[in-house]
Amino acid sequence: MTTHASIETNIPGPKASELLERRHQIVPNAVSYGIPTFAAKADGAKVTDVDGNTFIDFAGAIGTINVGHCHPTVTKALHDQVDQYIHTGFNVMMYEPYIELAEKLAALAPGSHDKKVLLQNSGAEAVENAVKVARKYTGRQAVVTFENAFHGRTLMTMSMTSKVKPYKFGFGPFAPEVYKAPFPYPYRKPREMTEEAYTNFMIEEFKKFLLTEVAPETIAAVVMEPVQGEGGFIVPEQRFVQAVKALCEEHGILFVADEIQTGFGRTGKYFAIDHYDVTPDLITVSKSLGAGTPISGVIGRSEIMDAAGAGELGGTYSGNPLGCRAALAAIEVIENEGLNDRALHIGEVVKDRFNRLSEDLDCIGEVRGLGAMVAVEIVEDRETKAPDKPLTQKIIAEAQHAGLLVLGAGLYGNVIRFLMPLVITDEELDEGLSILEKAMKNCYTPQHA
Ligand SMILES: Cc1ncc(COP(=O)(O)O)c(C=O)c1O
Repeated sequence: MTTHASIETNIPGPKASELLERRHQIVPNAVSYGIPTFAAKADGAKVTDVDGNTFIDFAGAIGTINVGHCHPTVTKALHDQVDQYIHTGFNVMMYEPYIELAEKLAALAPGSHDKKVLLQNSGAEAVENAVKVARKYTGRQAVVTFENAFHGRTLMTMSMTSKVKPYKFGFGPFAPEVYKAPFPYPYRKPREMTEEAYTNFMIEEFKKFLLTEVAPETIAAVVMEPVQGEGGFIVPEQRFVQAVKALCEEHGILFVADEIQTGFGRTGKYFAIDHYDVTPDLITVSKSLGAGTPISGVIGRSEIMDAAGAGELGGTYSGNPLGCRAALAAIEVIENEGLNDRALHIGEVVKDRFNRLSEDLDCIGEVRGLGAMVAVEIVEDRETKAPDKPLTQKIIAEAQHAGLLVLGAGLYGNVIRFLMPLVITDEELDEGLSILEKAMKNCYTPQHA
């Protein structure tokens, strides 16, 4: 049997060790890394490091590589663009790829209303701009996000983010007029509550929040991840999302779907919000939109997007031509290779594998997700559901050293999440899952053995 992962040296190997030493001298410690080695090349769902070790990639640069590393359609588009011009600055002399990408995103996004699209560079920048636009349009200041949310690392988006350590600790004061509402965490609902009762309860909690924390008539926008990403791939009940949207409509609040991690095929659709039958007023996109190039955007109702005046939105590199061309190519790949359907298949395979494994391993608390946005929550045992962060870290480290790039997540740091490129082959997927399965079996000692 051919294997796709191959580990030839210790990790870090000799070349990576040298780079690591240099890195420690010059790069701030706050910039973390998943595995102590350095990339030399990447292709499809595999990454090879500077010492010749090849890893199967279940991390996809944190959800950025849905179409795979260096897809030929993407690299050709980038080469073509580099040969024409790299950047003229959209605010100086405009260029067609920006227009073409904006048209494409407007056509793909949910809702038949007229839309306009603003392009930016990063996810956080897209969220910042969604807030700016929402405030301008509504004339209101308050912004509501949710417990467990992650929206970025800039001052505003850090303020909108819910996990204190490491994202916020020591970085205050935070931007004012940001409020966190309770968000469902179905796995951790009170034991005696049915799922239906829990959803009802969470809807009531949201209504109560509008009485106790912030008056609805002062809220510009509610910003929600349709599946929480950094929060641990938490999938809210459709009824909860619809109830929040209905309350937004009742009170003239804009509903913003942050699709930065969920978008472009990850959940089996271009936009995860389409699973909920909800049409957002604004949508933020980034990550897999650009297939690894820095590009992001805000897609929204035309009248909202036009509320700000000339010069009030933009930026030097915003919607840069390379990002636009890569994004257009990525969308073409998703379409031509049926990656939305592929995501559903991958999700089924991954869930099935860990559901079966959970029959033997009591540390698998829950296997959950939407499409290929699947995660496994690791606990001390299924009875107490006590989060087991040390075990999670041990499993991830062991899997990585055996040739699998994989990431943790979650409020308690006890979730293993999967963001593999959707072009991963069945064999690579199977091998990656086997590496993780072995790591779980090796690392877990049953409490009651
Ligand atoms: C849902 C969501 N919003 C915003 C961001 C921030 O994106 P960026 O890191 O590109 O600023 C992320 C990044 O992980 C994200 O997952």
